[in-house]
Amino acid sequence: MEIKSDFLVIGSGIAGLSFALKAASSGTVALITKRNIRESATFYAQGGIASVLSKEDTFDSHIKDTLYAGAGLCNREIVELVVKDGPARIQELIQLGVKFSSRTTGNDTELDLGREGGHSKRRIVHAEDLTGKAVEEALVAAVLSNKNISVYEHHIAVDLISHSKFVGQIQEDTVWGAYALDKTKGEIHSFLSKATILATGGAGKVYLFTSNPDIATGDGVAMAYRVGAEISNMEFIQFHPTCLYHSKAKSFLISEALRGEGAILKLKDGTLFMKKHHPMADLAPRDIVARAIDFELKKSGDECVYLDLSHKPADFIRDRFPNIHRKCLEFGIDITAMPIPVVPAAHYTCGGIKTDKEGMTSVNRLYAVGEAACTGLHGANRLASNSLLESLVFADKASEHAIKIIKNTSSEIPPIPQWETRGAVASDEAVVISQNWDEIRRFMWNYVGIVRSDKRLERAKRRITLLKNEINEYYWDFKITSDIVELRNIATVAELIINSASMRKESRGLHYNIDYPEKDDANFLKDTILKLNKLAGLA
Ligand code: FAD
Ligand code: SIN
Repeated sequence: MEIKSDFLVIGSGIAGLSFALKAASSGTVALITKRNIRESATFYAQGGIASVLSKEDTFDSHIKDTLYAGAGLCNREIVELVVKDGPARIQELIQLGVKFSSRTTGNDTELDLGREGGHSKRRIVHAEDLTGKAVEEALVAAVLSNKNISVYEHHIAVDLISHSKFVGQIQEDTVWGAYALDKTKGEIHSFLSKATILATGGAGKVYLFTSNPDIATGDGVAMAYRVGAEISNMEFIQFHPTCLYHSKAKSFLISEALRGEGAILKLKDGTLFMKKHHPMADLAPRDIVARAIDFELKKSGDECVYLDLSHKPADFIRDRFPNIHRKCLEFGIDITAMPIPVVPAAHYTCGGIKTDKEGMTSVNRLYAVGEAACTGLHGANRLASNSLLESLVFADKASEHAIKIIKNTSSEIPPIPQWETRGAVASDEAVVISQNWDEIRRFMWNYVGIVRSDKRLERAKRRITLLKNEINEYYWDFKITSDIVELRNIATVAELIINSASMRKESRGLHYNIDYPEKDDANFLKDTILKLNKLAGLA
């Protein structure tokens, strides 16, 4: 089947849905998403959205905090753009019906602003501790009632359609949509479009322990890389310091907002340890807190540390964190009365598909928005709650730009061949997938995790080369399934992370290599850029 639209949006988190709503004002939108429309990292976001919304706060202060967390690699122009655009984007969400938490003092009702690590002011707008759900539900409702948007659930994009592959070589390549697998029917359809938007989220599933949902397999980054787009800063993987440590909890996130409200990290014997690692103690930026926990765990041999909010009134805890309170109770932990066992887990992909200030990638008609993109906002480390903000701002910028491109340039989609079915045999070796999946995620955790070394990176490189060959053989020999598509993508993304980390011979932000424990501004105050078939470099 061939489906034609003006815009093809891949992904239904905050970035994809926001883009689709804006683009739909001037053209037709096909939105494909690999599970049900709500399934996304966005849905699980807890803490909230950072923005300057209080009289006591200033743009300068938010800019300064973002730049400090980014450890020298943020693009200042982008930081200013995102921070200053924030209040208008939050207002749009409110108009769409998102009910953010508020508080009343006297006759005044105002937004209740939370605080998180690295922020010098209270500036996190939130809906209790279920911010992502509130935002996702409002955006989904608006998208489903928009006649210009056609939604295709349970469709996984397999590969982008590039001009040079199917029409002929041109100097600067162009993307005309994507092939996607309809998971319910097992058929591949051609989604052809004049502008294609990758809003596929992050890649936490590359690691054994992650706060991310199962959709986070870095598909957009891998697909963009395969058509020759520039990929930037993949070594900067953010580990969230506090995920619930429980065999059945699947790394459930314990929001940083708990520390913002006074929760304290402790060792098993009650010793406080954060002050000796950073002057901001428990509210230090995430990279520092995650490394401090990793250091303490390696030193003590314990399996987890503890986060304690039980000194706060029980009513306050239940009202402010109803979801976390309920979820922990399911595991027998009453957070109003006892400390919570926590460990770090992979949480956010700071790098991604390199874009300019309008969300354009280095390939014509291909945009990337949200966690899949690397806009320059986060640099070497993302400040808490800046991700949802970035997605909103860039969905807006990219939609404006894509609308103009379609209006002002000749946009005739050339004839594109249907997907060529190959390997028509269904595999009877599903174990190959689970074996490779586990192996990649385990060695990425052990060798390319919170603390790296040249030796560990070399080991990881040898393994990924071997596994990639095996996965590729399997990919071409058997019928395509969404499992093999995702496995192939996590292998590509793992390789990009390893190669980027190997190029950065220093420690900065989220990238810490024990062989080079210091920052080296003279040689590495630059982004890492990887591009298929081109020499990797720093720029
Ligand atoms: P996502 O919301 O992840 O959406 C990606 C979409 O792409 C999904 O619909 C997925 O199914 C689809 N998709 C992926 N690959 C394909 C494919 N091949 N074909 C078709 N569809 C595909 N950030 C904050 O700023 N504040 C917070 O409080 C916060 N809390 C968080 C809590 C948790 C537990 C997690 C995991 C993250 C949190 N983050 C937070 C980070 C933030 O939620 C994400 O960075 C953000 O939601 C990403 O939005 P997105 O639209 O780019 O991607
Ligand atoms: C959290 O609530 O701790 C997550 C916030 C974020 O990832 O920005």
